[in-house]
Amino acid sequence: MNTPAAIELNLEKIRKQFPVLHQQVNGNPLVYLDNAATNQKPKRVIDALTRYYEHDNANIHRGIHTLAERATKAYEETRHTMQRFINAKHVEEIIFTRGVTESINLGSSSYGRAFVKAGDEIIISGMEHHSNIVPWQLICEEKGAIIKVIPLSEVGELDLDAYQKLLSGKTKVVAVNHASNSLGSINPIKEIIDLAHQVGAVVLIDGAQSSAHLPIDVQALDCDFYCISSHKMYGPTGTGILYGKKELLEKMPPYMGGGEMIKDVTFEKTTYNDLPYKFEAGTPNIADVVALNEAILFINELGKENIANHEAELLSYAAKKLSSIPSVRLIGTAREKVSVQLFVIDGIHHFDIGQMLDTRGIAVRTGHHCTQPLMERYGIEGTVRASFSVYNTKEEIDLLAEGVERIVKFLK
Ligand code: ALA
Repeated sequence: MNTPAAIELNLEKIRKQFPVLHQQVNGNPLVYLDNAATNQKPKRVIDALTRYYEHDNANIHRGIHTLAERATKAYEETRHTMQRFINAKHVEEIIFTRGVTESINLGSSSYGRAFVKAGDEIIISGMEHHSNIVPWQLICEEKGAIIKVIPLSEVGELDLDAYQKLLSGKTKVVAVNHASNSLGSINPIKEIIDLAHQVGAVVLIDGAQSSAHLPIDVQALDCDFYCISSHKMYGPTGTGILYGKKELLEKMPPYMGGGEMIKDVTFEKTTYNDLPYKFEAGTPNIADVVALNEAILFINELGKENIANHEAELLSYAAKKLSSIPSVRLIGTAREKVSVQLFVIDGIHHFDIGQMLDTRGIAVRTGHHCTQPLMERYGIEGTVRASFSVYNTKEEIDLLAEGVERIVKFLK
């Protein structure tokens, strides 16, 4: 991986690369703090999309004409860049999908269909996004398997002692996020993976909230599957990857049938293509995959460590400012966190807070953040969530805190 030395990021230069940031919303400069939902795209990603459609657009792996060859080369280049980005051993371990949701469904459905049996157990955590709960419930319903849940502490850290007690010879799969989209907690996935392997279980990591913030080395982690969404790491929506260990992917049945995933088709029998194409049926999202390459290069050039340092500073600044406002309660204060902060104001509904902040041009997310069981754990319906990215500034956090202070004064 290409990691530039630790440097102070030039925020002005970075912000200039994001056209969407330079606009007024409701008469105020946009303050975009909904980065955990999707982050904004640098011009080089937008340009790559336009360039692809203006110069290279063709279907891939099928034609021998020049445009088809160019499009195929660009698409496959992203696969190689992604391989280096997560340090996968083989390039064919990178399967393009529509994003993390599809990656988890592919993993759970294909692995589950082949290997999960009645009475087997699948362990997830109490801080999973619905997309890392429901696909496992579906396979459990189909196979008669059982879901077990790792509990978490009040501050939002997984209880590893309880996890160890859940593990047994019955555990088939452990599926947890690297970082929680709600609490921001960074989970000790290396430990989780090693413990799961001791009982022979495979481990799927939901990396939706980590890929833009944390180093990922799938070989060092020794995870069996790792899922990434492009749009949460400065890339376009509608694409992402499932990384899977080659020996596992080879044993798994196809997820979808169609063109490209076959070697030979007769009405009697079909033989399947080699990896990764066995799992890429139909015309994929070529343009967005091509543009994702630029997003990875953008991250590599800034250096993940530098991005993480800047975001950590923003997070601790925001936590300090918000918690000093009377009646604001922070939720999710784990020791290790990505730059996500949930908060509630007792007596004021989170939707009202979100709407009032929007009138000041401040974009935050409100609601249950697709983690209803987690909200139940805290005895709440929903929260406000501010999430920070590499282009955010302390001045923007001051504006958020000022907005929240006014709401408290106005409504209390
Ligand atoms: N999973 C995304 C979020 O947390 C949509 O907002």
